[in-house]
Amino acid sequence: MATEIELKRGLQGVYIDKTQSSFIDGTEGKLLYRGYSIHDLAEMATFEETVYLLLYSKLPNQAELDAFDAELRANRAIPAEVLEIIRLTKDAHPMDVLRTAVSATASFDPDTADNSPEATLRKGIRLTAQAPTIVTAHARIVQGKEPVAPNPNLKQAANFLYMLFDKEPTAAEARLMEKDFVLHAEHGINASAFAARVAASTISDLHSAVVSGIGTLKGPAHGGAAEEVMKMALDIGEEDRAEEYTRGILESGGRVMGFGHRVYKVEDPRARHLKAECEALGMERGQPKWFSILSKVAEVMEPYRARGICPNVDFWAGAMYHLLEIPKDIFICIFAMGRIPGWTVQVMEQHSNNILLRPLLLYEGPMDLEYTPLDQRS
Ligand code: ACO
Repeated sequence: MATEIELKRGLQGVYIDKTQSSFIDGTEGKLLYRGYSIHDLAEMATFEETVYLLLYSKLPNQAELDAFDAELRANRAIPAEVLEIIRLTKDAHPMDVLRTAVSATASFDPDTADNSPEATLRKGIRLTAQAPTIVTAHARIVQGKEPVAPNPNLKQAANFLYMLFDKEPTAAEARLMEKDFVLHAEHGINASAFAARVAASTISDLHSAVVSGIGTLKGPAHGGAAEEVMKMALDIGEEDRAEEYTRGILESGGRVMGFGHRVYKVEDPRARHLKAECEALGMERGQPKWFSILSKVAEVMEPYRARGICPNVDFWAGAMYHLLEIPKDIFICIFAMGRIPGWTVQVMEQHSNNILLRPLLLYEGPMDLEYTPLDQRS
C-alpha cells in the first residue's frame, strides 16, 4: 500500500488553491500583483496605492487613495497595554516582539472575532498601520530611548523611518523604504502565507493568521536571509576577501544566503530594484564597499545560475538597510511590515471559499506494538 503513495515533500510543485492576488512565473522571473507588473509598481506606485490595489482589487483614484491613506494614518497608534508588553519583552528578538505584540493587539481590537470580509479588511488596515509603531517602539526601547509617536503628516514608509530615528527622512530615503515595502507586499503561497492560510482555514481570525505568518517568516530559509546576508558582508569585510569566503561556504556544503528560491529558477524580479538602490545609496553615502562585496559574491555564484540558484529579494536588501543605518535585527521586521497586506488578502481569499488545509503524513513507524504496563517495563 505504502509504495503506491507519491509523497509531495515540502508540497513542492503542488497547487493548493486559486488566487487573484499575485501571479508568479518562476521560470520567466515574472511577478504581478492583481495583474500589474511588480516593475511598474516598484517604480511608480506608492505603498498606500499598492496596499489599496491588493485589498480592493483595483488601483485607487485620487479621492480613494486619499481616504485610504488617511485611514492608515489614523490607525497607527497602539494600545498602552501593548506598549507595556513591548517593554516587558524588550530583550527578545524584534520578530518575537512583533509576533507577541500583534497577538496582544487582538485583545484590544473590536473586530478580533469577526471574520466577515469587512471586519478582516478593517483589521488588515489596522495591523498594517500599527506594525511600524510596534517595531520602532521596540527598537527605541532597546536603545534606552522613548518611542516616537507616529507623525500623521508622513506616509507609511517615511513615518516608519521617522519613528525609528526621531528624524524626518529625506524624500529619497522615504522613497527607498517605500519601494522596499511595495516589493514585499505579496508573494503567492510562500511558507508564511501558507501558514497564515492554514490558520485561516480553521476559521480562525486575522490576528491569529498574521501571528502564524510572522512566526513562519522568521526563519533564515524565508525572511531571515537579509540579516544573514549583511552579517556575511560584514564578516567578509573587504571586496578582495569575498571570493575566498564564498568559495569556502560552497566547498563546505553551506548555503550562500540571499541565493536560491523555491519558485524562481531565474533571478527574483524584485532583486534588481534593490540592487540598483543598494548601489546608488552606497555611492551617495560614500560606502560603496558593501555593494562591491556583494557583487563579488554574486560573481562567484554565477555558475549556480545554471542550476536555478540566483539572487533573491533578500540578497541586496540587507546592505540597503545597513546603509540606511537600520539595526540588523529589525531587517526581517521590515519584510513582515510590508507583507501584512498580502497575508490579509490571502486570509480573505481563504475565508471566502474555505476548505480546511489538512494534508497527510505517511506513517513509517512500527505498527501494532503490545503495550507493556509501566511496572513491567525494564
Ligand atoms: N547556496 C548554495 N546552494 C544552494 C542554495 C544557496 N543559497 N540554495 C539552494 N542550494 C542548493 C542546495 O544545496 C541543493 O543542492 P543539492 O541538490 O546538491 O542538494 C539545491 O540547491 C536545491 O536546494 P533546496 O534546499 O532543495 O531548494 P529549495 O527550493 O527547497 O530551497 C531555499 C529554497 C530554502 C530558499 C534555498 O535556496 C536556501 O536555503 N537559500 C538561502 C536562504 C535564503 O536566501 N532564503 C531567502 C529565500 S527568499 C524569501 O523567502 C524571501
